[in-house]
Formats: sequence, structure tokens, C-alpha cells
Amino acid sequence: EAYDAGDHESFMHKEMLEQPARAEAVLRGRLDDKFGTGHLGGLNLDARELRAIKRVKILGCGSAYYVGQMGASLIEELARIPADAEAASEFRYRNPIVEPDTLYVAVSQSGETIDTLLAVQEIQRKGGFVIGLVNVVGSAIAREVDGGIYLHAGPEVAVASTKALTNMYLAFAMLAVQLGRVRDLSIADGRRLIAGLNAIPGQIDQVLAAEPELAVVAKSLAEAESLFFIGRVRGFPVAREGAQKFKEISYRHAEAYQTSELKHGPLALISTAVPTVAIVPDDELVERNVAALHEIAARGGPLTVVTHAGVDLGDLAGKVERIDVPKNERELDPILLTIPLQVLAYHAALSLGHDIDKPRNLAKSVTVE
Ligand code: G6P
Repeated sequence: EAYDAGDHESFMHKEMLEQPARAEAVLRGRLDDKFGTGHLGGLNLDARELRAIKRVKILGCGSAYYVGQMGASLIEELARIPADAEAASEFRYRNPIVEPDTLYVAVSQSGETIDTLLAVQEIQRKGGFVIGLVNVVGSAIAREVDGGIYLHAGPEVAVASTKALTNMYLAFAMLAVQLGRVRDLSIADGRRLIAGLNAIPGQIDQVLAAEPELAVVAKSLAEAESLFFIGRVRGFPVAREGAQKFKEISYRHAEAYQTSELKHGPLALISTAVPTVAIVPDDELVERNVAALHEIAARGGPLTVVTHAGVDLGDLAGKVERIDVPKNERELDPILLTIPLQVLAYHAALSLGHDIDKPRNLAKSVTVE
């Protein structure tokens, strides 16, 4: 059956709206409600081998790299294993240390990105064990890895990735729960997270239902030449991905920063002409995040705040654009905070009249160095 954009004005729009159904597909058959764990048979690792993992290193490019950062934080939080993500394009050039008790994870929608593929080969050359989080079945990376999790996002045509990214995140969440459950993550916490995962497809649908309101916000953001996207800890990779998507298709300068680093530099650039999109989840950092919003507002910086219903913005309420997303478990919130940023980028690009699916100078998969 041919994959076309149907009634949608672009593939990106179609692919955004497919997310609830595709999210269900990646979770299907892989969640164990009873014992609160994941069932990821394709990893080719038994409980003892999972238990022996001392470190996790994630490699990907572009958006896949930013989801990798979200994945690293899930793994550290839920399994308490040191984890980090690195741009696959840099990895092989710094003579990386590859260790036998590290789990390497290559993340790629296409499975053909040359930088990610060469990182996989460098790891294997040094005797490392690498799994793939890959969408395209039978792609180069999928064939070369030692195990993996297929993303079941279906074909993705738009250069700006949406549904594949969401499924990468969900795959990382299942991996993190499974790694956690062979360690200190309790059965109760495991069940809590599995229930959270089961709720995500419906919650994505709720975010997407706000598209008309998000389109209005996007139109005003598109007028700015330069924007900041800010977040911290779990929210920082969300900000990075939000800025990436915005710059890829709107061609506006969008820069991601840790909210905590604002005062160490970028605050100098804040003015009425430079809007900020702030990621402010209802978590342990909410008060600090709201304080940072005041710093921006005091300098006249326009604010769009992606947050949760319970968050009190104090005297900023009414002065900022507020986007509430449904609350899930704290650890799983990042993916829901990411969805409105896709919609903002999409409508900004649309209002500027750009070719959404084929942004200038970019390719869907970069297969040459
Ligand atoms: C290209 C695209 C990015 C994408 C990256 C990784 O650079 O422009 O949007 O995130 O490739 O692609 P992959 O297929 O490996 O996920």
C-alpha cells in the first residue's frame, strides 16, 4: 500500500497526527503490567547480562541524539546506571574508550545515517556490544547491531522527525524500566511506570487536539528572527529538540540553553525582540524555573511556557503564552512536553510559506560523510 500524505498538506502533518497510533504500536506486547517491567526480546540479553551492565552510552545524530539525551536521563533515573548520549558524528574521531561492561545504543530512524553506522562499527571493532533503536527494518544499522528494539513508527517521509522520535523515547523508557527492574526499581514503581506508558498515546492525542491554539502562538513566534528554548535537567533535551525542529523548518535562529545557565551569558541577549519558549514541568525544579521566567520577563522578553496545569506562574499569569500538557509520571513527562514544540515548529514554518517536508540544505538521511 502506497504511503502518501492523504488529506494532509504535508507528510510532517500526517506523521505528527499518526503519533498516538504509532506510540501504541511500539508499546504493544512489550509491557508487563503484572511485574512492572518491559519485555524487550530483541535485546538478546538475559536478566544476568542486563544486570552486568555498568554504563550506557547512546549515539545518534540530530534529533536522534537529543532523544538519546532524554533516554540517558531515563536510564540514570530508573536504573541508576551512569548513562550519557553523544553525537555519533564525533564519536569515532576521538579514539573512544570502548568497555565490555558498557551497553552501547545506536539510535536512528532511517538506520542508514553514515555517522551512526560508523560509530557502531568502531564499537564492534573494539569488541563492544551495541544494540539499535531503529525504525527501518532491515536497514544497515539494524543488520549490523547485536540486538535491538524496532520502533514500529511506520514510514517517515518528512525530514523533521516526529513519530519516530516519540517511539525512540518510548523504547528508551521500556529499556530503562527493564534495566531498572533487574536492579533496585521496585515492582510498585515498575507498575506505576508501565501504567504511565500505557497512558501516553491518549495523552499525545490530547496535546494534538490543541493544534488550532498552538498555530496562533506559532505564528507570532515565526515573526522573531531569533528565539531561545530553555529547560533544565529532564527538560533540557526537550528544549534542544524543540530548537532543532524550529530551526530545521522555519529557518529562524533557535538556540537551546539550560535555564540555569541563562544568567551566565544569554540573558544579555534577551529583549522584546527575542522570545523564549520555556519548558517548565511540574517537578522538583518548578520554583527555580518560574524564578528564571521572571528574569526574562523583567527584561521584556516575550515568553511561551510549556507546562502542566498545576503550575502557578504567579504574577506572570496572563502575561505569557501558556501551553499546558497532560501530566504523566514525572520521569515520563519529557515526551509529552516535546509534542507541542513539533506543532509550534510546523505552524511557524507553514506561516512563513516554507517547504515543510523538504527544508533547504537538509536530507532525511545523511548517508555520505
Ligand atoms: C538528518 C536529519 C535529522 C535527523 C538525523 C538523524 O540529519 O536532518 O532530522 O534527526 O538525520 O537521522 P536518523 O535517520 O539517523 O534518525
